[in-house]
Amino acid sequence: MSPRGTANLVRRLWMTRATSRPLGGLLLLGASIAFVWAAVGLAASSRLEAQLVRSDPDAAAANARLLYFAAARGAGVFKAECASCHGADGKGNTARGVPDLTDADWLYGSGKVRDIEKVAYYGIRAHNPRNWNLAVMPGFARPVPSASEQLAPLSPGDIAAVTAFLQSRGGQPAGLAAAEAGRRIFAGKGGCYDCHANDAKGDPAIGAPNLVDKIWLYGDGSRQAIFDSIAYGRQGVCPARAGRLSALRLREVSLYVFALSHRSGPHPDKSPP
Ligand code: HEC
Ligand code: HEC
Repeated sequence: MSPRGTANLVRRLWMTRATSRPLGGLLLLGASIAFVWAAVGLAASSRLEAQLVRSDPDAAAANARLLYFAAARGAGVFKAECASCHGADGKGNTARGVPDLTDADWLYGSGKVRDIEKVAYYGIRAHNPRNWNLAVMPGFARPVPSASEQLAPLSPGDIAAVTAFLQSRGGQPAGLAAAEAGRRIFAGKGGCYDCHANDAKGDPAIGAPNLVDKIWLYGDGSRQAIFDSIAYGRQGVCPARAGRLSALRLREVSLYVFALSHRSGPHPDKSPP
């Protein structure tokens, strides 16, 4: 019932001659207590809101009360703004190159709230002047693999070799000779080392994924999936939300994602402190 509806009901009961005055008084007292209770609750949550936007994002995550408050609200923001791509459970979709936000593996940064928030604000390859857009995976089957890097195309044999190299480094069976040829392409004419690092473990400063762990952004680590990434290139986009969502909502959703991926600490599924 709306506050006005409640007030009308109280007034009607108060006015009806059939109703005894003590009952009206009791109802009025009850309504007043409910009103004060709601006002106190409202004041407390607006105090927490102010604290949340003012505080350093990672300091907010270290404060269990703030984290619960933010994460509980961020769950709704995530559902409305992020779940369509990242999934209701935040686990992403390797068929579309959408990363899992619940694990400890990060393409950009190291999973601090400020890293997550930067993506939530400005996005990745999202045409926002402050977005992440430092590296694009070239398509090595194209005559000109990259618009920004000087790279020669690779033959299907070269792509198969470098695929074998990555599979062998990741502990999957691969031909020895092919893997060795692929190692030379990785460290040489392919220019792969430039973005993915010499050890192929990636670079979170530019969003180049680790290629020798068990976590794949695209596909399942099969020969075909790796081959396709190298041949066609990849260019995942995460939209920017700055200007669309308030600073408060962006902080709430960032803390929610932080809580999803840091389950040993406070978590919205667990009971509050
Ligand atoms: C200019 C930087 C750059 C170069 C050079 C480059 N990559 Fe990448 N690569 C990336 C980026 C960035 C991504 C992630 C793409 C995305 O997020 O959509 C990526 C993704 C990949 C993936 C998919 C990984 C996954 O988890 O699904 C593979 C495989 C890969 N690269 C292999 C290579 C190989 C092999 C070479 C050399 C022949 C190479 N890359 C050269 C930047 C680069
Ligand atoms: C249109 C689909 C889409 C939507 C909607 C979307 N994302 Fe993304 N997000 C992606 C893709 C794709 C990537 C990977 C980009 C890449 O390849 O570099 C990503 C990457 C990220 C990353 C980086 C993960 C890492 O490992 O470093 C974060 C954090 C993130 N998204 C948070 C969010 C949040 C929070 C929202 C909602 C406010 C959101 N995303 C909405 C598609 C989406």
